[in-house]
Amino acid sequence: MPARESTLLQSWHHNARSWIEAIRTGAIESRQQVTDQAILLAVMGRQPERVLDLGCGEGWLMRALADRAIEAVGVDGDPTLVEAARGAGSSTVHVASYEELVEAKVNVGNDYDLICANFALLHQDIIPLLAAMNALLVPGGTLVIQTLHPWTAAAGDYQDGWREETFAGFEGQWQPMPWYFRTLSSWLNALDMAGFRLVTLQEPQHPQSPVPQSLVLVAERRESSQL
Ligand SMILES: C[S@@+](CC[C@H](N)C(=O)[O-])C[C@H]1O[C@@H](n2cnc3c(N)ncnc32)[C@H](O)[C@@H]1O
Repeated sequence: MPARESTLLQSWHHNARSWIEAIRTGAIESRQQVTDQAILLAVMGRQPERVLDLGCGEGWLMRALADRAIEAVGVDGDPTLVEAARGAGSSTVHVASYEELVEAKVNVGNDYDLICANFALLHQDIIPLLAAMNALLVPGGTLVIQTLHPWTAAAGDYQDGWREETFAGFEGQWQPMPWYFRTLSSWLNALDMAGFRLVTLQEPQHPQSPVPQSLVLVAERRESSQL
């Protein structure tokens, strides 16, 4: 694993407890106000029966889907987060790094109607991972990605590249996390290269905020005749 990717995953091992606390106490306002609802609606809108939550963290989205009678399986690279997800009621949650998923070293099941990644694609080379996820979908299956909105997150530097999240303003002990900023065209190119066709693009916004809170990309698995 390249050095930055390895530091990224390592930061989650360090930050897992603080992250669980932040999510379960509702400490991240944008999630409470806008983005939790946005991903849930985007997923529900596709009416899936079976969903894989990629980079599921402590599992809030799997629980929200299970409450709506949708079967949700999770996978995450941090064992503490996976244990927390299982402990909160999600029965099928796998521990695997994205690298292991690309190399098919861990079997997380297949024939999913939909795979979602909520603020979980933070590394540089996402195309091999998205291509591996493509193969786990039923024909015509859906990929839903929610991520930081590139124009909001750009902070005046609109080009692909590594950035650092320091978690300033969050309670608890945090290790800085490297993450890879990508422009809108870079996201769309990654989807295309991984065999997906963009269906919709949403920019969830809070009525009292002048900027979007996130970017939601809904894409369909392209069939080979469309490649
Ligand atoms: C910002 S959290 C989002 C968690 C969850 N999707 C949510 O909405 O709360 C990012 C997640 O991606 C996972 N992750 C990051 N890099 C990873 C990697 N290389 N392999 C596996 N999981 C990874 C982390 O462990 C973490 O749970």
